[in-house]
Amino acid sequence: MPKSLVSIHDFSKDELLYIVKQAAIFEKDHRPVLKGKVVATIFFEPSTRTRLSFETAANRLGARVVGFSDADNTSVSKGETLKDTIMMISNYADLIVMRHPREGSARYASEISRVPVINAGDGANQHPSQTLLDMYSIQKTQGRLDNLTITMVGDLKYGRTVHSLLQAMSHFNTRFKFIAPPELRMPEEYKQYLSERGLPFTEHTELAENINDADILYMTRVQRERFSDPIEYEKVKNVYVLKNSFLKDTKPSMKILHPLPRVNEISADVDNNPKAYYFEQARNGVFARMAIIHYLIGR
Ligand code: CP
Repeated sequence: MPKSLVSIHDFSKDELLYIVKQAAIFEKDHRPVLKGKVVATIFFEPSTRTRLSFETAANRLGARVVGFSDADNTSVSKGETLKDTIMMISNYADLIVMRHPREGSARYASEISRVPVINAGDGANQHPSQTLLDMYSIQKTQGRLDNLTITMVGDLKYGRTVHSLLQAMSHFNTRFKFIAPPELRMPEEYKQYLSERGLPFTEHTELAENINDADILYMTRVQRERFSDPIEYEKVKNVYVLKNSFLKDTKPSMKILHPLPRVNEISADVDNNPKAYYFEQARNGVFARMAIIHYLIGR
């Protein structure tokens, strides 16, 4: 089976550090080293950043891109299974980048595919390429990955980006703070993961009074698409709104990350604060994804 990136655990600490280092190299210089390769991007769920930055990354490396952003226009709409779809695409492409709403779908695809699979998000489970661009953003802004305080805010229950990031940063002696309403707390399995590794974490429900010691303030969106009951979503959708006034006593070096899209959780008045880093973070996605694609099919 070819090496895939389905979960952040598929990469060792050394591999994570290698990708972060390579991303910096690709940011400075991108030659078309993957000429002749084909990358398939298959998205069964909406995306702006992940799909377009993967496609930009592949194009900048000289690869060609095929794929779809709406499965309704494919034979899936005629009843073709995920298994058959993956078998077909792995006949055509050298790498598959897949987003799918079902947890575990990317692992399943990687077990069928003849070519590497990158999980571009599977339900509430994992989003490992987002984690690598987050790590690259942390390294760039803090000058290190070790011994930082990362404060995660919002939908910590369904947020696949916080789950992947927590696991990756557990290699680096991170202190975590979780700020979430009771309905959206960090799941027990992730807290247990930290406890087993002796990593400290605290849990809170208030935003403004708990962010002054953060090196990274990682905001997340409450994800309407993960709620089966719309009333439950309505109760929590605007639970946290980060305002510029909350930032006055935060560390000068602190940066605000957000995987985006945001809805209401960061007020527009934060965008011009030098601590706001989420748009640069999304830009870093191209370089991190160039490094991942190159690692999987270019060496
Ligand atoms: N961060 C992220 O996954 O964004 P998209 O949903 O736009 O791809």
